[in-house]
Amino acid sequence: MSAGPDIRFDGQVALVTGAGNGLGRAHALELARRGARVAVNDVARTPDGESAAQRVVDEIRALGATSVALDGDVGHEETSTGLVRDTVAALGGLDIVVNNAGHGKPSTAQDTSTELLREILDVHLFGMFWIQREALIHMRERDYGRIVNTSSALGAFGAPDSFTYTVAKAAIVGMTRAASLDNRDRDIRVNALAPVANSGLAASYFATQPQLDTARLHPSYCSPVVAYLAHRSCELHGTTLAAGGGRVARVFTATAPGLADPDLDAESVAAHLDLALALDGMRVLGSSLEQYELLPDFGPASTTNGGRG
Ligand SMILES: NC(=O)c1ccc[n+]([C@@H]2O[C@H](COP(=O)([O-])OP(=O)(O)OC[C@H]3O[C@@H](n4cnc5c(N)ncnc54)[C@H](O)[C@@H]3O)[C@@H](O)[C@H]2O)c1
Repeated sequence: MSAGPDIRFDGQVALVTGAGNGLGRAHALELARRGARVAVNDVARTPDGESAAQRVVDEIRALGATSVALDGDVGHEETSTGLVRDTVAALGGLDIVVNNAGHGKPSTAQDTSTELLREILDVHLFGMFWIQREALIHMRERDYGRIVNTSSALGAFGAPDSFTYTVAKAAIVGMTRAASLDNRDRDIRVNALAPVANSGLAASYFATQPQLDTARLHPSYCSPVVAYLAHRSCELHGTTLAAGGGRVARVFTATAPGLADPDLDAESVAAHLDLALALDGMRVLGSSLEQYELLPDFGPASTTNGGRG
């Protein structure tokens, strides 16, 4: 079904974090196959004690592409900002960031310790924030850049026993939208990915779901969506795309006109909740400022404002 533009990255440089395994590795290989020079970050080591990032760099070089390994933990500010600088120094620029590194630990809203929430936010939210900020400074000077931040369906919809991860991934959706709106004056696109792949923590879940074809859930099925979001032709701003198993789809927050009643009180909310929740006229807003267009026009409020103070 493919008939779109040729998606190539010749002459461009990409940084992919957490690319020693799973989704990040697949994204790094996809970008390299399409001509990008790729900086591969990871914190992990293989069972033989080798750098996981270097192992992927070796795979990329075997394809005839240029790549460097940048070992380091994105959960530290100096390391994260250093990754951007080291990519520019080693590969001569930075056009694409795929913020992918992450891990998770189960916990509930009621049993999560402050330390655990901080640990997960440091890697997912702050790691992506530090790299994104440093990259945006570089990209704004050159009036070009593409950033893909890895969120999750959990960030949009939640899941039980995944409190810290859900909080972090939801924050990444907000961070992506805010960064996108702050950079509409440049040829910079910041978007998010909500992948599904048989890798990382998800692998243990899929092991309990024999009805799913896990071969179809190989991480490489998500990478075409990353390649599109990373490409010059990408038209999206602040959008989250679900990807995996051959599916790509928008994940969005929307609002609707809802219930309009000049005499709205708690009783009318309870009585007409169906109207308040109705999706008729649903809109995905470009920014929160557009919500004011949905306010009902009841004419001027009385001077006493119905006794509402
Ligand atoms: N697999 C899924 O279905 C799924 C679903 C939604 C979101 N995600 C997200 O996709 C991303 C990749 O997940 P995956 O399934 O490929 O996991 P994975 O465990 O297979 O790979 C993640 C890689 O990130 C690296 N990493 C972890 N913490 C790091 C850190 N602090 N600094 C540098 N590298 C670090 C790990 O060493 C590992 O190589 C994560 O952000 C994850 O939350 C995955």
